[in-house]
Amino acid sequence: MKNFYITTPIYYVNDRPHIGHAYTTILADVISRQYKFQKINSIFLTGLDEHGQKVEQAAIKNNISPKEHCDSMVPRFKELWDKLNIKYDDFIRTTENRHTTIVKKILQKVYDNGDIYFDEYEGLYSISEERFITEKEAESGIFKDIKKLKEKNYFFKMSAYQQELIEHIKQNPDFIMPDYRKNEVLGFLNKPLNDLCISRPKSRLKWGIELPFDKNYVTYVWFDALINYISSIGYSNSNEKFRKFWPANIHLIGKDILTTHCVYWPTMLMSIGLDLPKTIFAHGWWLNKDSKMSKSVGNVINPLDLIDEFDEDSLRFFLMRDMKLGQDSNFSEELFFTRYNSDLANDLGNLLSRITNLIDKFFEGKLSSGFDKSSRGRIVQVESSKVISFTNECFRKMKINEAIDNSMNCIKSINKYIESMAPWKLVKTDMTAASSVLLTSAEALRISCLSLIAVMPNKMNQALNILGDNSFNCDWGFFENGLTVKKHEPLFPRIDVSIKKNHNKSHKMNPSDNIISYEKFSNIELKVAQIKQVVKIDNSDKLYKIIADIGKSKIQIVSGISKHYNLEDLVGKNIIVVTNLKGSKIFGIQSEGMLLAAKKGKKLSLITSNSDDLVLGEKIY
Ligand code: MSP
Repeated sequence: MKNFYITTPIYYVNDRPHIGHAYTTILADVISRQYKFQKINSIFLTGLDEHGQKVEQAAIKNNISPKEHCDSMVPRFKELWDKLNIKYDDFIRTTENRHTTIVKKILQKVYDNGDIYFDEYEGLYSISEERFITEKEAESGIFKDIKKLKEKNYFFKMSAYQQELIEHIKQNPDFIMPDYRKNEVLGFLNKPLNDLCISRPKSRLKWGIELPFDKNYVTYVWFDALINYISSIGYSNSNEKFRKFWPANIHLIGKDILTTHCVYWPTMLMSIGLDLPKTIFAHGWWLNKDSKMSKSVGNVINPLDLIDEFDEDSLRFFLMRDMKLGQDSNFSEELFFTRYNSDLANDLGNLLSRITNLIDKFFEGKLSSGFDKSSRGRIVQVESSKVISFTNECFRKMKINEAIDNSMNCIKSINKYIESMAPWKLVKTDMTAASSVLLTSAEALRISCLSLIAVMPNKMNQALNILGDNSFNCDWGFFENGLTVKKHEPLFPRIDVSIKKNHNKSHKMNPSDNIISYEKFSNIELKVAQIKQVVKIDNSDKLYKIIADIGKSKIQIVSGISKHYNLEDLVGKNIIVVTNLKGSKIFGIQSEGMLLAAKKGKKLSLITSNSDDLVLGEKIY
């Protein structure tokens, strides 16, 4: 293989990136690094999906243009990718010129082919999904915001390619992976395929790419978004980059977007006469206590919390090791701590410290003799010599967790070898033998670290540096003539889980523990509000139901301030409210936010303002 091209989905710009988005992007980064490590000319693309109704609505809500809204959201993704040490080669935004011009070019081409037609359609439309849904989907109860819609639109003749697609899937076993996802798609294709509605009238949606053949319509977000995979590499047969990297080797996706990638996208490509991607790989979901993480459920885990406390490599390792590619996995801090302590602190970190401390203590940091030629020494040599080729093979088969498993087993074997050879005892009788055991262990560890370098680039580079290897040579024998090790801090300091548990239980924090990142602070939406109506809640001697004006809308808050304020004194006050708190029911009444107050002894005082410079609904920074 000369060239390699891997992509992630382009994420909705409106989303706050969480561990699920981070997972796909880390996975793509790890795979891309492994191919680059093999000196294969690789590119890795990620980016953002920026058109559609939700973006338009969010912009209106914030009183800015959709483009300004998108621009303000981009850093959240880019900063997270930097923190996770993601080395993408290209970051595409669907609002970029290089993308929109190609989408238009393709729409025109498909239209000229006769694969796009205009028709009136009446059906059930999901507002949140921004698409027509089937009767069956409507009955599923998943969609809460369905309306009947009769509209003239443009349709893509997806059905014309149904048979060709089925044939392609059957003849190319690697096209959709894993196998059970392939069967799911084939099952879907068993029934007649409907044509795809690919337009939205501008009367309903403006924030999209205008159809080149009808200025009253914009294109459907999926038709727009999928094209990013070819627009980013300059779709055109005269473009060298495009010829080199298309078809992509792997489109990585979550199982939630299987149909769009395995049915819409291939039929679009067939219509414009392009080869299909070699593999579409759908991974499972990271769950929190068996439920999919989602903003509306409120069980989203923010990866930044863990990176701030530990380091990005430990998180990358955990995510890559604990998900069997394709299946769902549960994420919890406890699982993370256990994995960290057993694999990273105990097995890998301790092995490195043990080898370097012994070399330091008995050999002044330097070894010069050859390897251990005993049968035990040879077993370690044989096992670790194979670890890199095994890793590469696993990556080719998309069995990343198996590759990591094998590297960790190799590290366990080196630990056992040292344990059985006891070089700390050997030094009393045979310094040369002790030295060769340590040299053999260091060489085996060096190769194991190289096999994990795509997963943990920073930590493994540090480990290699401590061992004195900057060659990235994957063959056995680099330390044959000796080595010099460096003194170092523990690479993966053990986590005291009992402290963590108590810490989480009591929520008592030292002032320094209580520091939060700017990112965390900026997640809190504080707004200027004016109290419009206050009602005392029956059977409660503390609670008021407060309706406050926050500019374009009102917010209802249940608050325990009735002992501190008379009803009538509150109306008209300018206060500060938290508007993005998860809603809850208090005394059976929905509360959607919180108002800010300070305590003086037992008295509560609302934070109020009489300033004329404040505008209702204005965000507070
Ligand atoms: N914009 C579309 C994709 C267009 S691609 C041409 C979209 N965006 S998304 O922001 O919703 O991202 C979905 C992707 O995020 C999933 O396919 C998956 O890669 C990742 N994940 C989001 N939540 C996830 C989990 N809980 N677990 C694992 N990955 C998930 O769909």
